Amino acid sequence: MDKKGVSFTLQQVEERDVAKKPSYIGLLNAVANGERGGYELFKAWGDTTKDKALKPTLDMVAVREMEHSWAFEKRLTELGYGLRPTTNKELKKQVRFLKSNASDEEKFASFGVGVKREKAAGSDSTETDGLLQILADKTIDPQTGALMGRFISEERDTGRQLVKAYGAMQRRKTNKKTNAQ
Ligand SMILES: [Fe+2]
Repeated sequence: MDKKGVSFTLQQVEERDVAKKPSYIGLLNAVANGERGGYELFKAWGDTTKDKALKPTLDMVAVREMEHSWAFEKRLTELGYGLRPTTNKELKKQVRFLKSNASDEEKFASFGVGVKREKAAGSDSTETDGLLQILADKTIDPQTGALMGRFISEERDTGRQLVKAYGAMQRRKTNKKTNAQ
């Protein structure tokens, strides 16, 4: 085969590869990076909290976040792509705050837990958390779709667990005050 023939073949291969790149690679990358950041936040908080009853929930959330990051990176590599790490200045600031001596209550508030939100006009109980958006792409393959479905359900459960842990923390405080009287 002459040189021209070879380069034409390579071009064809490249075109085929570009055409085959799933449209959701960037999304997988974003979730993998985001969850890695979530791990850093909850690890920082779990390692510094003085509340022994709260720590198990924070540790569980940290492990879940890291596992999500790994699972999405694993899927990226299975599809033939590598993780592109992102740097996030805001994350470093948040990690510093979660490692600080700020109260657990303030730390919960930084995740919107225990914060009374004013209802926006027209909002109701059907308000979504936006997580389903990651499944909006109709070309998502079944294996990636299953991972995303599991991820969405676990994230929502994490939200419920944090609200539960916050409520338990408040009850412990109230009991402590009552017992001290
Ligand atoms: Fe998360």
